[in-house]
Amino acid sequence: MDFPLFHLDFMGNRMLVAIIAILHVLINHALAVGFAPLVTVLEFRGYLKSKTKPNEGKAWDEMARKLMFFAFIITTSVGALTGVGIWFATSLANPASLGSLIRVFYFAWFTEWIIFVLEVIFIMIYFLTWKRSNESPRRKRQHILFGVWLSIFSWLTMAIIVGILAFMMDPGSWVEKKSLVSGFLNPIYLPQLIFRTPVAMMMAGCVALMVTAYVMKKQNTWKTGIMKYISFWILLWMPLAASGAFIYYWHIPRVMIGNLPVAIGTQQFQNWYGSLVTVMIVVISIGFLVGILGTFSPRRLPKHLLIIPVISSFLFLGVFERLREFIRKPYVIGEYMYANGILVEEYPLYQQTGLLKHTPYSALSEITEENKLPAGEAVFTLTCTRCHTTHGINSVVKRFELMYGTETPLNEEAMKTYMKNMHNVRYYMPPFPGNDEELGALAAWIAEQQRNPKTLEGPQIKGVEVKEIEYKLQNLEK
Ligand code: HEC
Repeated sequence: MDFPLFHLDFMGNRMLVAIIAILHVLINHALAVGFAPLVTVLEFRGYLKSKTKPNEGKAWDEMARKLMFFAFIITTSVGALTGVGIWFATSLANPASLGSLIRVFYFAWFTEWIIFVLEVIFIMIYFLTWKRSNESPRRKRQHILFGVWLSIFSWLTMAIIVGILAFMMDPGSWVEKKSLVSGFLNPIYLPQLIFRTPVAMMMAGCVALMVTAYVMKKQNTWKTGIMKYISFWILLWMPLAASGAFIYYWHIPRVMIGNLPVAIGTQQFQNWYGSLVTVMIVVISIGFLVGILGTFSPRRLPKHLLIIPVISSFLFLGVFERLREFIRKPYVIGEYMYANGILVEEYPLYQQTGLLKHTPYSALSEITEENKLPAGEAVFTLTCTRCHTTHGINSVVKRFELMYGTETPLNEEAMKTYMKNMHNVRYYMPPFPGNDEELGALAAWIAEQQRNPKTLEGPQIKGVEVKEIEYKLQNLEK
């Protein structure tokens, strides 16, 4: 309640965060975490080969450099921008949760930032000194060492951020201990890292295979050898990625698994859950086939087909990210803070005395007949807009219409009864955090939205009215 809430009424805040974050994670995993070791290994193979077969060694080295060029351009532009973008977007979408995360993980983030800067320095050195490194074997060995450092630092940035992501799903013993270490070493941390690491390697292989197929000329004698090697890399990591997924799945708290069908397909499509799982298995098998074919007979691999493993591995991770974000609901930080940014322990107070009273960024405190609609709008902003819009994506009006039909106007009493219990029927939604008058105002405002649809402008457009709140200090003084 300490911040005014940014709101995008057409696509919703969730979608804004999702677009930026998924783009970032795909680039980070495939082109940084996975690519750095793959390129380094290819360069090293080239170095070994060059001792006996200089021409072949040169071809490997040249292809590794081209792959690095590709990764360098994308990671330092779109990758870096979306990385920063995540923090902007999430702190707009849920300032309270970001605030909590920074308090818990301050030191981890600080370390991550240093490591990230080192990663950028190493990627610069690694890519920009490549040509010079071919001047002597000693230089080459040094250069390969930079590749190793780049790989380590790329992995480390991911390994730190994953601690925070896993914490949000299940804070584990932090809920009692409240220390950085207990938060970081939460129950899902290692399983998630065990999953992400091989997935990143596998995705890097898929991208590298496609780029190599397009970039290297058919006549190049060494093309087959390189393609075989990259395919083998994919095959090697694939079983690890699959078992990682399995381990991760088993460590997700069981209550969250209950959210999976809706998470994958949204409510209307939840019966598709079965078929979506089948689709995922098919998609993975395609990648596997390409890996086998590439390892044993790369000449038979049609170039254009290689986009399929790239798309399927990206989809695979994209879907996993969406699931991870979804099944955590109704919490943004497991058992501690709900997705609406309200702490679990604040609920009893708000439900008893009303939410608006405790909100500095709303001029209203008491609800009367006259201010019912603006109060309802304020309550909607505070309690539903982290996930719903009025008429855009996941529109609240539409959700109620889907439940009650559109033949008769929405019934405020029925809506009130539903909202009071919505967390019991739909456990991905938090309980309603206000009192009965606020529930009434919210129902009245949603019904009015059905009669006269209007876009709800966020405080970033509308501005905010501030009221003074009398804080009771006794508790603090104790
Ligand atoms: C944590 C996110 C979140 C919050 C907060 C939230 N909802 Fe939802 N709500 C959802 C999701 C997700 C769905 C399912 C959408 C789908 O089918 O894809 C949903 C569905 C609904 C439905 C349809 C349920 C059904 O049984 O078919 C209604 C009605 C609804 N929400 C109302 C509200 C109201 C009113 C609030 C605020 C008091 C609210 N929600 C707060 C995420 C949320």
